[in-house]
Amino acid sequence: MSERTPSAGTAPEPSSPEPSASQKKIFIKTYGCQMNVYDSARMADVMAPEGYVETASPEDADLVILNTCHIREKAAEKVYSELGRLRELKAEKAVRGEGLVIGVAGCVAQAEGNEMRRRAPVVDIIVGPQTYHRLPDLVARSGNGGPALVETEFPAEDKFESLPAPERRKTVARGPTAFLTIQEGCDKFCTFCVVPYTRGAEFSRPVSRIADEARALVEAGVREITLLGQNVNAYHGEDASGRSSSLGALVRELAAIDGLDRIRYTTSHPRDMDDELISAHGEIGKLMPYLHLPVQSGSDAILDQMNRQHTAEFYLRIVERIRAARPDIALSSDFIVGFPGETEADFEATLALIREVRYAQAYSFKYSPRPGTPAATRDGQLPEEVKTERLHRLQALLSEQSEAFNKSLAGKRLPVLFDRRGRAPGQLVGRSPYLQPVHLDGVSADLFGQIADVVIEEGLANSLRGRLATSEAAPA
Ligand code: 5AD
Ligand code: SF4
Repeated sequence: MSERTPSAGTAPEPSSPEPSASQKKIFIKTYGCQMNVYDSARMADVMAPEGYVETASPEDADLVILNTCHIREKAAEKVYSELGRLRELKAEKAVRGEGLVIGVAGCVAQAEGNEMRRRAPVVDIIVGPQTYHRLPDLVARSGNGGPALVETEFPAEDKFESLPAPERRKTVARGPTAFLTIQEGCDKFCTFCVVPYTRGAEFSRPVSRIADEARALVEAGVREITLLGQNVNAYHGEDASGRSSSLGALVRELAAIDGLDRIRYTTSHPRDMDDELISAHGEIGKLMPYLHLPVQSGSDAILDQMNRQHTAEFYLRIVERIRAARPDIALSSDFIVGFPGETEADFEATLALIREVRYAQAYSFKYSPRPGTPAATRDGQLPEEVKTERLHRLQALLSEQSEAFNKSLAGKRLPVLFDRRGRAPGQLVGRSPYLQPVHLDGVSADLFGQIADVVIEEGLANSLRGRLATSEAAPA
């Protein structure tokens, strides 16, 4: 899963009804990927029947949850320093006779469980990504000043089945776009990655449950749904006839929902881009022409060491086939520089792959040894300066490409879904089919939540600027 996607969650908007003095308040801080954003909303849902409404400030809260991420370096340290601040807040509240329950959820909780209990006694509850449906019980049992309650098993029961049904959710939709988790966990075991250890084995939700959730979102005003999974295109949930459905088939089924206009999915693995999914890109207009397909490296030796289970050539052929199916598709990827043993020639092979593919967007990271993963203890760990220098070169090339892509859209007419209000009246921000933010001035606030054609006036480094298309505007 990628961070920094423009849509990744920020401070939660308080859900209705407005908090009143008698209600209890929950503040959730979300780190990391979109799946954590989805999980945070579900945590708010499970606490709603207990009388908790969301607040945007920890000072107001009776319950604070840090929903953490463990994918790269210093994640745990960030959590501990946040817990230091919360310890002070808890002490201040105690002076005023107010309580504060502190919970840590997500992948750091999963990985650090008992260590965190020892190191941060201020924490009352530690709950993993597969056990947060048990929060109400944990919250009810907490707060007696004893050691933290830890729930980090991978339980046999299905978390999704224990969450409130879509129509009973307080947080069903916060705007015209939404995330929907369809698959979790990963069986790929890339040697750098903690996900198979923190999120567990691959699991796909049944088609009918996903379709119900999608319909509930659409009824609540959602026009665009991003299907989430750590390995989303390995999706193999059960369909109505009891057979396993591929992601391509699921997208086809969801595309039949009236009022749902746009479908995306993330994050994919090149090995799971099957024919059905590739042809779906050519045949289903609602499937947006943007694909996040991480490659990590362009060197076969490094790909092998990473256990990615494919070569650079295999990836390039997939890209070629997707482009044949959907010529205007915009591609994005994740890259890791400085994996153990990466030579200058390996790194240059990554630059060569990037030049060949031409990305619209990308996320790149210095390799960070994750405790418990095979690569962390390998020989050939690279000095920080080498990683930093390679990251700069890689990012310079990727920024050049994304800016060139944005500029190439100037003069084009694109359908834009307006999903954010700008700072000043008359300003609205939307997203293009290619996921860039599109800024408009002097437009009616009524367009919020709608899709309208926009003529792109300028492509900038990370966004587009445009004006509403009139009938005589240039065609796409
Ligand atoms: N070090 C650096 N980057 C990592 N990622 C995952 N694990 C690591 C690690 N140990 C990156 C990969 C992945 C993205 C979500 O995070 O590029 O695709
Ligand atoms: Fe991690 Fe690899 Fe699984 Fe992606 S495919 S979640 S990088 S192990």
